[in-house]
Amino acid sequence: MANEQNMSILAIETSCDETSAAVVVNGRRCVSNIISSQIDTHRVFGGVVPEIASRKHIETISLVVDQAMAAATTEFLQLSGVAVTNGPGLIGALVVGLYYAKSLAYGLRLPLITVNHLHAHICANYLEDITIEGVAFEPPFMCLVVSGGHTSLVYVEDYLHYEFIGQTRDDAAGEAFDKVARTLGLPYPGGPEIEKLAAIGNPHAIQFPRANTGKGTTQDFDFSFSGLKSAVLNYLNKASMQGVAVSREDVAASFQAAVIDVLVDKCLAAAAHKGCGKVALAGGVAASTALRQKLSVRCAEQGVRLNLPPKVFCTDNAAMVASAAYYRYLAQEFAPLDVNAYSRNQTLMTKG
Ligand code: KG4
Ligand code: ZN
Repeated sequence: MANEQNMSILAIETSCDETSAAVVVNGRRCVSNIISSQIDTHRVFGGVVPEIASRKHIETISLVVDQAMAAATTEFLQLSGVAVTNGPGLIGALVVGLYYAKSLAYGLRLPLITVNHLHAHICANYLEDITIEGVAFEPPFMCLVVSGGHTSLVYVEDYLHYEFIGQTRDDAAGEAFDKVARTLGLPYPGGPEIEKLAAIGNPHAIQFPRANTGKGTTQDFDFSFSGLKSAVLNYLNKASMQGVAVSREDVAASFQAAVIDVLVDKCLAAAAHKGCGKVALAGGVAASTALRQKLSVRCAEQGVRLNLPPKVFCTDNAAMVASAAYYRYLAQEFAPLDVNAYSRNQTLMTKG
């Protein structure tokens, strides 16, 4: 029998190229978080191949779930619910996790809770050891969600309600990192590779454009990274045509600085716009040390409380899905067994 005072939720995440399962107690205490990454398989193709991702999830999911249960020293009968990401993401990848979770929920007679992937990224901010002086991080806050597929500013009103403040009009920040990295001859995923190269480059060497930064006065919180990406490509092409040597380190550092300047400016402007003194980071790009440092400095200057989830909870993982599911569980928001997966963000973040 599940102990409702200590609710353990098993969550599954298969929206892209990580097969992950986790057990989280009361939405915050992560007792296991197993992540099987397919990156090495996809790297040779320069990006994620959807059909291969689905097949890999099928091969791995049982093992990953068993490992998560074993690491949590939890029995299936001690669980309160089964959670799963059902979108947005690669449809063939999502259905593997969704049908596995449905089968478990049906077999164990447990409630099924479906979770929006962006909602899950935001909930990484609730996971354990994310406290400042012992105070748990709670809504309301402004969240900068930056991943390979999304770049959004989301005002988190409470655990279930979100207001979409801004989003990218073209490329996501992570996508821009991946594309520029590819042009520089770096492997997939590009973000961590650019970061390594940028660490030994000069961020002021090349003045790449910062689209719509608005100098903190704008009410437009949308992003655009395609102009910046083109500027980097033009810079490299021009140098190659003129036979001029290029410092890849300086290109990486200057590009990274341009992305981070815009992200940080808009995030703080959006928080001020909502009169909100708390800011959080989420999504794979939130693993960027340079972004974390810049946002920390600017938040400290402005007296804004910042929450930075540990890097392992920023890139795709199931612990964040379990946390999101806990709050849906409390609201009795359970999914029927005929629930579907969806590839695009249908719900516009009003609910998970
Ligand atoms: O959230 P995530 O794991 O998957 C999606 O939901 O998209 O994010 C993956 C993205 C990739 O584009 C990757 O290049 C980027 O996060 N990323 C980074 C860093 N680590 C991962 N971008 C910049 N700096 C990093 N250190
Ligand atoms: Zn993600």
